[in-house]
Amino acid sequence: MLKAGITAGAALFLPSAGLFAQAGPLIQRKIPSTGESLPIIGIGTARRYEAVTTEAERAPLREVLRQFKELGGKVIDSSPTYGTAETVVGDLVSELKIRDALFIATKVSTSGREAGLAQLERSFKLLRTPKIDLIAVHNIRDTRTQLRTLSELKQAGRVRYVGITTSFEKQYQEFEQTMKAETLDFIQVDYALDNRKADQKILPLAADRGMAVMINLPFGRGRLFNAVQGQKLPPWAGEFDCASWAQFFLKYIVSHPAITCAVPGMAKVEYVIDNLGAARGRLPDAAMRRRMESFIDGL
Ligand SMILES: NC(=O)c1ccc[n+]([C@@H]2O[C@H](COP(=O)([O-])OP(=O)(O)OC[C@H]3O[C@@H](n4cnc5c(N)ncnc54)[C@H](OP(=O)(O)O)[C@@H]3O)[C@@H](O)[C@H]2O)c1
Repeated sequence: MLKAGITAGAALFLPSAGLFAQAGPLIQRKIPSTGESLPIIGIGTARRYEAVTTEAERAPLREVLRQFKELGGKVIDSSPTYGTAETVVGDLVSELKIRDALFIATKVSTSGREAGLAQLERSFKLLRTPKIDLIAVHNIRDTRTQLRTLSELKQAGRVRYVGITTSFEKQYQEFEQTMKAETLDFIQVDYALDNRKADQKILPLAADRGMAVMINLPFGRGRLFNAVQGQKLPPWAGEFDCASWAQFFLKYIVSHPAITCAVPGMAKVEYVIDNLGAARGRLPDAAMRRRMESFIDGL
């Protein structure tokens, strides 16, 4: 990264992490329904933001959000089902005064109109914002009811985009039917170098229907890192400006033409620097993507 930073002529020293990150803009993709651009790498807040109660636990996350914004990051994905995540994001974003620089996404994850409305109002309160950028129906739970409410909130100017999410293959069929039946700005689905089922129907359908695509579980939680443990990056990874395994896995995802952004879980500044590096430089082309698939399938 040091070398890459210097050759780009603009290395940015981040003393808190003792690491170097490349400066300069992140690669952006357009949300089809409006043409608004988003950087291709965001932050997911499941797990590491879920049980944060003390200042000692919050402090590293404050630094993560500060550096993320400094490096040009925008998208933060949360959910009312992620324990303390919405509270932590809301409090830290408000403290850091960076709300306007961010694109905050959350979800609605319950059954029934009244329960949905109550959960949504709680998200506005915890996230400390009068307007949420994206709210998606989590794991297509009571989709029709919740989408109706989200559409009302959108009309009222309180939500900018609406969508649906899943991370379960057994839901894909219903997910595809919903994509065909509803007008959605976004879908969110699991996709990773070793979990490519979404590219069979869901990703082409999203492109066809003009829906932005946010990718969850881009590392399959720790699965991909475990698969390559002890291995060096192949030398041809340099052909698409890839300096780490995290960048290898993320550049594979965001080089799919239907994908708008990926939201890896990250609670460490060194992960922010590493993962945002996947939004810089060259991305793999179609032939290189096949080579990456053969590589991982051959492990
Ligand atoms: N149905 C849904 O709507 C749904 C379902 C699942 C996830 N999601 C969303 O997708 C996001 C991502 O999923 P996830 O966080 O569960 O899994 P993930 O992004 O696949 O993996 C995250 C883990 O990878 C490791 N990691 C991240 N950056 C790294 C780096 N540069 N180098 C080495 N290790 C690195 C970290 O492990 P350690 O922290 O252990 O070091 C981190 O916790 C979630 O946070 C959530 O926002 C949505």
